[in-house]
Formats: sequence, C-alpha cells, structure tokens
Amino acid sequence: MVLDALIQIKNEVDPSLTFRRSCREGICGSCAMNIDGDNGLACLTKIKKDQAGPMMITPLPHMFVMKDLVVDMTNFYAQYKSVEPWLKRKDSPPVPGKKIPHSKKDRAKLDDMYECFLCAYCSTSCPSYWWYPELYLGPAALLHAHRWITDSRDQYTKERLEAVCNEFKLYRCHTILNCTAACPKGLNPGKEIMSIKSLQLQKPFM
Ligand code: SF4
Ligand code: FES
Repeated sequence: MVLDALIQIKNEVDPSLTFRRSCREGICGSCAMNIDGDNGLACLTKIKKDQAGPMMITPLPHMFVMKDLVVDMTNFYAQYKSVEPWLKRKDSPPVPGKKIPHSKKDRAKLDDMYECFLCAYCSTSCPSYWWYPELYLGPAALLHAHRWITDSRDQYTKERLEAVCNEFKLYRCHTILNCTAACPKGLNPGKEIMSIKSLQLQKPFM
C-alpha cells in the first residue's frame, strides 16, 4: 500500500517526512491524501505491480499545508462542530446511561450517514468548497447536519434546518457531486445535501 511506502521512506530515507495515519486498515480516515490526482486512503491504495514511473502524492487539495502531507483541519472541524453533532432534547435532557429508544425503521434512516469518519475527501474534492471554504459548510458537515435532522430522537429539527439553510452554508452546493464520487466509505453526501434542500422547500422556515 502507499502508506507502507511512506513509512519505509520515513524509516529509511527521510525521518522528517510528515503524514497522518493511525489504524492502517481504512477505519480512521486519518491517512487522507491525494494520490496520482485522486483523493484516496493511503492505507488502502495499492501500489501497482507494473507501476511505470513515480507516483505523485500530495496533501488534500485546497487546504492549508502545515507540513508535507499534513493539512490544517481547523476550519473543517469547526464546521463539523457548528452543526452541533449531538442529540438535543427539549422535554428532558438525556440521562447518562439511559437509552432513548427509536424504531428499527427510524434507526435505518441513519444508515449511510453515521458511518462518516470525517476524512474530508468530499469537502476537499468540491469546487464550491475551494471557492468558499469559510462560508460554505461543505459536504461532510452538511451530511452530519442531515444525520441529526433525520434522527427521530432529536427534538431540534426545525432549528437545525434554520441553522444551515442559508445562501452560503447550504446553497453554495451546485450538485457537482465530486463529493459522492470521492467518498471512500461509499456514502452519498450530495444526496444528503439535496435532502436538506427538499426539506427546506417543504417547510420554508426562512
Ligand atoms: S462523507 Fe465520506 S468523504 Fe466525506 S468526510 Fe465522510 S467519509 Fe469522508
Ligand atoms: S490509517 Fe486509518 S484509514 Fe488509513
């Protein structure tokens, strides 16, 4: 895998080479980088046996680079935090250790959203995010916004919609769908963004 090559270079050639990695098996999303022009997980991207020439490995596109392959994720995480990705209740605060049940059907609605591991491939593949990284929330944060809008146990659906349905945070998405093509987990952030837009059209809170 590409990650093995990077580790070998760091061990044997240049110990200053800097990159993120943790699980080495596609679980954590931390080895996100651009490999030969495509965003990919270094730990799951094979080096071809018939690799003709050098591979081009660069940091995630359009992010500020801290060192080598490590980009500054501060804005990306702040956008994720801004959608308040936790359960919010009005009638009574959740009691630690006590479950709030929901039906199997409602639970299934969270599939293809909860699996996101915040690798940032989708957002850094998106031209709208490149142009407006601080104004447009980007596909990853919007996927998580929709995950909590959808959760039947959450009681802040209207407020969550109001918070994201604005000209820049949501409507800079022009349905280019690079996000969906990029996701290494097979998720569909483009579809989740369209779902938020259609909910807003059904309930014009603004
Ligand atoms: S939706 Fe996919 S590409 Fe985007 S951050 Fe989550 S796992 Fe990564
Ligand atoms: S090191 Fe965890 S996904 Fe690659």
